[in-house]
Amino acid sequence: MPASSNPRNFQEAGGTAGPEREGVPPQKPVLVAYDRLARSATYAMTTRRQFLGALSLAPSAMAAPPSLRADAPLNLAELGATDKSPQALAGDEDFWHQIGLQFTCDRSMVNLNNGGVSPAPLFVQLAMKKHLDFSNQAPPYHMWRILQPHKEGVRQRLAHAHGVDPEEIALTRNASESLMICQFGMDLKDGDEVLTTNQDYPRMVNTFKQRQAREGIRLKQFSVPVPIDETEKIVDLFEAQIRPGKTKMILCSHMINLTGQILPVKEISALGRKYGIPVIIDGAHSFAHFDFKLADLECDFFATSLHKWLFAPHGTGLLYMRKERIPEVWPLMAAAEKQKNDIRKFEEIGTHPLANYLAISEALTFHQGIGGKRKEARLIYLRDYWAKALLQEDRVRLHTSLKPGWACGIANVQIEGLHSGKLASWLWKHYRILVTAIHHDEFQGLRISPSVYTKLSELDRFIDAVRVAIRSGIEED
Ligand SMILES: Cc1ncc(COP(=O)(O)O)c(C=O)c1O
Repeated sequence: MPASSNPRNFQEAGGTAGPEREGVPPQKPVLVAYDRLARSATYAMTTRRQFLGALSLAPSAMAAPPSLRADAPLNLAELGATDKSPQALAGDEDFWHQIGLQFTCDRSMVNLNNGGVSPAPLFVQLAMKKHLDFSNQAPPYHMWRILQPHKEGVRQRLAHAHGVDPEEIALTRNASESLMICQFGMDLKDGDEVLTTNQDYPRMVNTFKQRQAREGIRLKQFSVPVPIDETEKIVDLFEAQIRPGKTKMILCSHMINLTGQILPVKEISALGRKYGIPVIIDGAHSFAHFDFKLADLECDFFATSLHKWLFAPHGTGLLYMRKERIPEVWPLMAAAEKQKNDIRKFEEIGTHPLANYLAISEALTFHQGIGGKRKEARLIYLRDYWAKALLQEDRVRLHTSLKPGWACGIANVQIEGLHSGKLASWLWKHYRILVTAIHHDEFQGLRISPSVYTKLSELDRFIDAVRVAIRSGIEED
């Protein structure tokens, strides 16, 4: 496969650091800046107004290195205080322009793969850098003795935001780790069956395949229609696959990465409870993308990455596990016996950086500052903007339902007659537009995932490019 036709290579092709600016005062001593940060935004619960005010102060107050500086917007506090409903605000380009200024994205390209991994806002990058600089002054003391205890504050804030107990939240490196803790951690024996769809994430399917090869368990995958927007139909599909006494685990995506399809995981968890089967929810794409609370899902196991839609530092994830289930799940890396009932046993991974984890706080502050409902409404607005424009064209097929509640910012579009992989390469080569080509046995298309910093003009560029492809083709000479 040529480098440019591989979406992962697309991701690697774009830089993110902003340009150096002239006239930037010399950097202040790190400890001063660290101390100020610690006392201000990091550990406090922050209101939206405080957050928006903090953003306009952040670049100067935190002594950013020149390469990370951005002009501070002056009117965010005012903008954030608007009484507009999330739906009305979704189309307010002035507001979203100010939010977009908080990112240091490379605007020479159009990044429509924010589902893969997100850029972190400058506010988050600076906090992480601050913690890293502080750690490096004396790691055993600063990192282990001073910063490590602050992790508890991050745990508490995440739990508080989601209406669950902090003792049910583990901080991990990503969704893969959180999911594998659950998938590997529960005892199964030869012949036991695990159930998932044929649209679940390949690494998670491979996790079961490894158990299959090693322990003789049986992996059963089944097909889900694309798109699907009836709760009962989906729950029935899962129930039809359950073999009472044989099925011992269910893995279910909250939002399918291929199409953005949302599944009714609360009902599927209830189904699992009915049969006594643990249901592991893969929330890699749902968390901080559309507005919900973990407590509302009434689930036992929920795993996510925080570097996707929460915009937290790369290499951060979360595992929610209902308290009563903790003792029965083995950690991936061994922990002391006395930690058996402690969620922190899943964090026993040896020496690791604290900076990433602590800056989750700024990402949460940023998210809460925008507001979950506003973010959801904007992501839907952006999706409808490009999807409805392209649906005017012949040969355009959407593999994602636009009905409320069944998708959010991610959608999958197919141009009939065009190979999706080749179209993705063509968009990159000729327009510097980054999309994700999806080739599933049952459907194909482009996965499009804009983010809160995406401008309508960037979506126009994408729409225009696809129209050219539809009218003139993409075959190279
Ligand atoms: C549905 C789903 N699950 C799990 C993952 C794994 O996420 P990560 O690579 O952040 O661990 C992804 C990544 O895109 C995903 O889409």
